[in-house]
Amino acid sequence: MALKPSYENVLVEKKEGIAWVTLNRPEKRNAMSPGLCFDMLEVLTELNTDPDVRVLVLTGAGDAFSAGMDLRLFFRALDDKPYERQLARDADRRWNWYKLAYFSKPTIAMVNGYCFGGAFTPLCACDFAIAADDAVFGLSEVNWGILPGGLVSKVVADFMPLRKAIYYSVTGRTFDGKEAEKIGLVSLAVPRARLKDEVTTLAKDLMTKSPEVLKATKDAIRHVRSMPVDQAYEYLEAKSESMRFRDGLNTRSRGMEEFLDKKTYRPGLQPMPGRK
Ligand code: ACO
Repeated sequence: MALKPSYENVLVEKKEGIAWVTLNRPEKRNAMSPGLCFDMLEVLTELNTDPDVRVLVLTGAGDAFSAGMDLRLFFRALDDKPYERQLARDADRRWNWYKLAYFSKPTIAMVNGYCFGGAFTPLCACDFAIAADDAVFGLSEVNWGILPGGLVSKVVADFMPLRKAIYYSVTGRTFDGKEAEKIGLVSLAVPRARLKDEVTTLAKDLMTKSPEVLKATKDAIRHVRSMPVDQAYEYLEAKSESMRFRDGLNTRSRGMEEFLDKKTYRPGLQPMPGRK
């Protein structure tokens, strides 16, 4: 089944191996409505298996990444509709955590502006996050009398130092992209004018590497965090073994041959050749 020609709440543009996925409710600062969640679930399911897509970038239309859950459509309108609320919540958690965090290709959140509340989940589900240094982040749930729910408290506790996680979630104070980089919430903060170029450069760099090795590596890093040491050893051994058979580019033997025998390649000085 091919991508629908258009989605009401999401734009998809595929170009040179990169899928640019844009949350598209700029008039509501890309707040996540049930409709947006249903659209994202379909979009991610399709792009996950699209052979033309090597890297996915998630961003927002206009001056917001996303203002979080749509307080009107996702919360208030569904308060008395348990069936519809459950459908919306299922779609929400499936796209913004499970689909994204275990996406088969590398994912980059391009944080172009406001990023509030529920938007922290897809932000952290992406493998990389590059923010404009004047982007505005906020855990504003405390002002609505709700918890940073869904998975927000969990991702915040996992991705931010504890002092900062408590400080920002309990006060609801905002912070900018530079602070987000300093505390490790995003990989990098850059001037707004350079944001798209920086994301494109990273995406192109990722496309020079073996897709199977990238997927196995990102999965390994995510999974070992919650494993005891012995279990991590076992898991990583098994994963490493399986990767030797799954890597279509044969990175291991090719890389070693080029480094040890041909002396044509030094990973500290150049990317793996022949991967463009
Ligand atoms: N839910 C529903 N509607 C929203 C949301 C939201 N999270 N965020 C913005 N909107 C709507 C506004 O109600 C407004 O709608 P209207 O034109 O019908 O009045 C429209 O988007 C534009 O919002 P403004 O406030 O006018 O835009 P501005 O650029 O001045 O401010 C900002 C943007 C800072 C993002 C502000 O809208 C805001 O503080 N939003 C709330 C953010 C928030 O608290 N998110 C967490 C929600 S809880 C959760 O995610 C679990």
